[in-house]
Amino acid sequence: MEIATSGFYEILSPRCTVLISTVDKDGKANAAPFSFVTPVSSDPPLLLFAATPARHTLANARETGDFVFNIVPEELLDKLWTCSKAFPKGVSEIEEAGLTQRKSKHVRAPSIEECIGWIECQVEFEKEAGDHILVVGRVVHAECKDEYMKEGQFNVSKAKPVMHIRGRRFVAAERIVHAKGD
Ligand SMILES: Cc1cc2nc3c(=O)[nH]c(=O)nc-3n(C[C@H](O)[C@H](O)[C@H](O)COP(=O)(O)O)c2cc1C
Repeated sequence: MEIATSGFYEILSPRCTVLISTVDKDGKANAAPFSFVTPVSSDPPLLLFAATPARHTLANARETGDFVFNIVPEELLDKLWTCSKAFPKGVSEIEEAGLTQRKSKHVRAPSIEECIGWIECQVEFEKEAGDHILVVGRVVHAECKDEYMKEGQFNVSKAKPVMHIRGRRFVAAERIVHAKGD
């Protein structure tokens, strides 16, 4: 079956999905799910998210210069969905979804307590790309709750991080497989 090119990303699934938390210049917090996200460099540590121009997340990242990737466990899927609703700017989706704001270590943007882990970033640069704006951030702090680490490695089977397919369809990733051979 041929897929419409505008929806190509459906078969680029499941995609890493995070709640990005930000704060505006008046200190009002915001959180929204994003699945157009990817690491882009490990030295220096850089990642990016792609946002359409109207997103409050983008406005806040421009205003205050930082943001946090919050890694979401399966149990928070419905709350993530609540955070995707179009609340007015200045309304905290963290509160609306019944989540808990937590002070970040190195950035002004808050983190979300209930999440698996947090990647704190400072905005490095942005670049227009089609109908989205790519925001590249430098990772200044990364942390995972101990309960989701096993022998120094991320325990995906326990964390079951939420990954997006399209619309309301997600995958809770949990089965680790190992490549054989050299
Ligand atoms: C699972 C999921 C992934 C999403 N990924 C993106 C994305 O990568 N980029 C984007 O601009 N919007 C994305 N959205 C839409 C935004 O989350 C949504 O429009 C939200 O209300 C934006 O909030 P904000 O204006 O507070 O930033 C996604 C929505 C969902 C449910």
